[in-house]
Amino acid sequence: MDSILVRGNGALSGAIPIAGAKNACLTLMPATLLSDEPLTLTNAPRLSDIRTMTQLLQSLGAEVASLQDGLVLALSSHSITNHKADYDIVRKMRASILVLGPMLARYGHAVVSLPGGCAIGARPVDLHLKALEAMGADLDLRDGYVHAKAPGGRLKGAVVEFPFVSVGATENALMAATLAKGTTVLKNAAREPEIVDLARCLKKMGAKIDGEGTSMITIEGVDRLGGATHQVVTDRIELGTYMLVPAICGGEVECIGGTLDLVESFAAKLDAAGVSVTQTNRGLKVSRKNGRVRAVDVMTEPFPGFPTDLQAQMMALLCTADGVSVLEEKIFENRFMHAPELMRMGAKIDVHGGTAKVTGVEKLKGAPVMATDLRASVSLILAGLAAEGETVVSRVYHLDRGYERVEEKLRACGAHVERIAG
Ligand code: EPZ
Repeated sequence: MDSILVRGNGALSGAIPIAGAKNACLTLMPATLLSDEPLTLTNAPRLSDIRTMTQLLQSLGAEVASLQDGLVLALSSHSITNHKADYDIVRKMRASILVLGPMLARYGHAVVSLPGGCAIGARPVDLHLKALEAMGADLDLRDGYVHAKAPGGRLKGAVVEFPFVSVGATENALMAATLAKGTTVLKNAAREPEIVDLARCLKKMGAKIDGEGTSMITIEGVDRLGGATHQVVTDRIELGTYMLVPAICGGEVECIGGTLDLVESFAAKLDAAGVSVTQTNRGLKVSRKNGRVRAVDVMTEPFPGFPTDLQAQMMALLCTADGVSVLEEKIFENRFMHAPELMRMGAKIDVHGGTAKVTGVEKLKGAPVMATDLRASVSLILAGLAAEGETVVSRVYHLDRGYERVEEKLRACGAHVERIAG
């Protein structure tokens, strides 16, 4: 298992290109199952999760070609031969559950392994299943799989009210509804930019969708969908992550391709902490307004609130802030595993349930630390960039799921970062 070695190197400045959104691409790719015409995705991120989704779709009989060094994905589902998504792939990546809705909507049946939990929580899929049942699906859960059937071979439109916001359940229901007979209304739907991006792509394929980006989405089912070419939206979580580099180290970084609308609540928190964020014609330029950042309180919420996927990274910044910050993690039940690792670097953090109290220190100290999940791993790298001495982050396979060419992008700003093959 590879590790990443980071040596604190003072202020960092330069330009960092932001890739296409992992969490948009992971829902756009299964959309190919809705049509027998080609779907081409551009600005695709080069990540291990994308390769896993590729394997899954290919195991179903879809064709997925990775072109232009992975930036373009050419997908086609005109010859789906297998309607079963096996546990051995699904367990590697929970987003695999997103093949259920499209496969059921297009073929009238699907067998998909239940994803296990993961480090940050149990992450059940009950809301996905309830939405599909509301649309007429017969679901039989046995031997760890969902055996799904649409009576008469076609789902029917329904009103689906989610008891709380779920990104994945909204995506599964949205895709399924495009081919259902009649109208579907999704209430308390997720509003993330990745949902808007998916709706935009589905509409290019011929779907009839209104209200994406709001908490009520209305879908008029159609008999068939066509192909499309779609550019994957910029990754707001990668964007937010790299915006924190000058915030925690000093210097000035321009995140190429970044736009304020993707990170409004996050940028507002940075502003309150004493970090300036300016939209340029190339992206977002970020620098500290003066020395040490100020402590701020953070609570994670569904979009447009503060993103849970930036909580670990923000905690790294607040470990070096002037004052005491309180972070509340409201989305996942176990998303503070980076805290004990940051404490190995001298951070002062008290965790009680979903609340972490962080007392800022002047300087963190480099130390060997272990990545536990995707966003925790990059949080430890951020801390290492600002720490005195050397930090070695182990188990960086987590990192490669969601960040492409991290070392390159950081070295371009003067960081001392290298990968140690393990
Ligand atoms: C998506 O996960 C993202 N993953 C996550 O990003 C992100 O953290 C999350 O949305 C929240 O924004 C992808 O898009 C591939 P949810 P998802 O359904 O859809 C509970 C990353 O780091 N829940 O919005 O699984 C769930 O346990 C990853 O890139 C149910 O109880 O998230 C969680 O507590 C991590 N039943 C909460 O709802 C369900 O049926 C929100 O989950 C579904 C969810």
